[in-house]
Amino acid sequence: MKTIQLSNGVEMPILGFGTYQITDPIEAEQAVITAIQAGYRLIDTAQIYLNEAAVGQAITKAGVDRKDLFITTKIWIENMSYDGVMQSFRQSMERLGLDYLDLLLIHQPYNDVYGAWRAMEELYEQGKIRAIGISNFSVDRAVDLAIFNKITPHINQIEINPFQQQATAIQALCDEGIMPQAWAPFAEGKNGIFHHPTLTTIAIKYGKSVAQVILRWLVQQDIIVLAKSVNPTRMAENIAIFDFELTTEDIAAIATLDVGESQFFSHSDPERIKWISTLTMNIPLTTESRCYLYSFDYSTGVRHSGIFFVFGTGVRHSCFFNVLPPTKI
Ligand SMILES: NC(=O)c1ccc[n+]([C@@H]2O[C@H](COP(=O)([O-])OP(=O)(O)OC[C@H]3O[C@@H](n4cnc5c(N)ncnc54)[C@H](OP(=O)(O)O)[C@@H]3O)[C@@H](O)[C@H]2O)c1
Repeated sequence: MKTIQLSNGVEMPILGFGTYQITDPIEAEQAVITAIQAGYRLIDTAQIYLNEAAVGQAITKAGVDRKDLFITTKIWIENMSYDGVMQSFRQSMERLGLDYLDLLLIHQPYNDVYGAWRAMEELYEQGKIRAIGISNFSVDRAVDLAIFNKITPHINQIEINPFQQQATAIQALCDEGIMPQAWAPFAEGKNGIFHHPTLTTIAIKYGKSVAQVILRWLVQQDIIVLAKSVNPTRMAENIAIFDFELTTEDIAAIATLDVGESQFFSHSDPERIKWISTLTMNIPLTTESRCYLYSFDYSTGVRHSGIFFVFGTGVRHSCFFNVLPPTKI
């Protein structure tokens, strides 16, 4: 696997496996085991994905040396303060079953990100984390955080896909020594991306899939990318992108697909900020069990009905029953 060097010298795999929306613990554990066995070494989770414990189980069972893996998790908004990071980082590490982390990110640019960053700097300097970064920060807020603190973020994980290419932001981040990382490279399938005629024409030319063309387009620009799939065939497909090269004409054709706006929502929309900041992890700090009736897809604002059982340190079992249709909030 090709790697990218971060500004502190740490080498990071250029292509990783994303675990967003894989909340069922059995499915999450199996998906991560299959991904590691397929060759993925970078695994991306987050406190709010409620699957850190399952990812931890998979890391133990996958049969690959810990030092050969690169594990990322992210601090959720409710834990965004100095004390919140210190406490919730310990809990994340317990759930993941790790004694060091490769990358810790501020998940969203809200709440006390300065206090959170100072805690992350301390954990980094203590050697508990190999790299620290941010996610969903606009360039101005990333620069502001960098210049008033000791450590410039090593990464900014942002939405990048053919419809939201972010060329200006990517250049500006690179100029600051902040490596951009792409989430939702497939725009989660929105707007018919897997059947887009321009992408399909390029894919046919190389005997590849549209998904492979998109991932190749990103790694060829040295952008670290996360792809998510629970399907073993697609996991293998998504990692088989190192045996072909796009031409400058292909890249110019893909450039025309940019619509210059998020396929999900703007992180600077006041109503979205108010709404997303109400979402909590609902993970109890004690060993008591709890049961919840809803879960939220916080990027789309869709509420799913179901029963979610939580025991102690993470979701252990979820059982979906569609009494209510998903609701846009
Ligand atoms: N920092 C943030 O705020 C943030 C936000 C969103 C995501 N992320 C991270 O980035 C990762 C990737 O983003 P994402 O999961 O939102 O979306 P994505 O990777 O753009 O799209 C995932 C969707 O594409 C499908 N898919 C995957 N490979 C495919 C293929 N070869 N052919 C056809 N369909 C395919 C998957 O379905 P199947 O699973 O059925 O294959 C899934 O529905 C996440 O998992 C997460 O780790 C971070």
